[in-house]
Amino acid sequence: MLTNFDLEKMVETSDEWIRTRTGIVERRIADPDVATSDLAIRAAQAALESAGMGAAELDLIIVATVTPDMFFPCTAAIVQRHLGPTMAAFDILVGCTGFVYGLAVAREMVASGVYNRVLVCGAETLSRITDWEDRRTCVLFGDAAGAAIVGPVEEGRGILGYSLGNDGTNADSLKIPAGGSRMPATQETVANRMHYLMMNGPEVFKFAVRVMVESSEEVVQRAGLQMSDINLVIPHQANLRIVDAAAKRFHLPYERFARNGDRYGNTSAATIPLALDEAVRAGSVKSGDLVLLSSFGAGLSWGSLVMRW
Ligand code: ACO
Repeated sequence: MLTNFDLEKMVETSDEWIRTRTGIVERRIADPDVATSDLAIRAAQAALESAGMGAAELDLIIVATVTPDMFFPCTAAIVQRHLGPTMAAFDILVGCTGFVYGLAVAREMVASGVYNRVLVCGAETLSRITDWEDRRTCVLFGDAAGAAIVGPVEEGRGILGYSLGNDGTNADSLKIPAGGSRMPATQETVANRMHYLMMNGPEVFKFAVRVMVESSEEVVQRAGLQMSDINLVIPHQANLRIVDAAAKRFHLPYERFARNGDRYGNTSAATIPLALDEAVRAGSVKSGDLVLLSSFGAGLSWGSLVMRW
């Protein structure tokens, strides 16, 4: 665990600044020998256990991540190797929105009858792409994984609808500039710290509130529902001020918003499955409840999804 007080010793920052600007108090950092697939495998095993299923019953593994173990093979392939049975496996790279995209893809695969059970993981070791000398970003991120299994359900339950999007106009506001085909790794790119995540925070903040509100309203309306019908909103936990701003726009009470960013920071594609798992285990989501997931991230992308639990 890395607290705000630990960060005070690493960069010029304060617990007070981090708490008031982001709501974050502490975050988890994976041990050096733990990679994203290790976290994804643990989350997958926990999901299989709570579904009372074996890996042999899965048809497809999707891992949403911006911190794969390596460029290729994809992290989903490494998870498949560990789980055992052969099956289709691929990664989704849509930043923090990846888990919502993954659920939408899984839903269509199941609805079309192509696959019966799809494992969707959101897994990240953002500590590996964080510049620990940059106070503007290093206070924000953490490592985590969460997973869900998507399968057939009776009419009127499960994933009722989703809204996905991307506007590349401000794609440069959130990126890792070097290490890909545009700017391959050289000694110079490493010396210039270009393999770390770079972000224009205020730009992303403005975008985040707007797209979360718009796409949530759209998906709720399309499902023939009102925002007041939603029992629990699980927003991406990037910054608790963004969650507060969205709550105000939705005119929903504070308690209807899942919040755990104070304990884990922004874990990108993992924040939503992590918060969903905590809410289910705490009994905050009951059978028949309407749950709204809403996220935004690199791209700049967004995704909202409504489901009846
Ligand atoms: N400690 C102390 N001071 C700091 C720190 C810090 N850790 N970081 C920045 N500051 C300073 C800045 O240098 C600046 O000082 P200056 O005015 O002298 O230049 C001042 O604080 C204000 O900086 P801003 O960046 O304007 O602060 P802001 O209130 O916008 O908060 C934050 C920054 C928290 C990053 C906010 O913009 C935010 O949350 N943005 C959204 C980020 C996000 O949601 N990302 C999600 C996607 S992540 C992904 O996809 C992996």
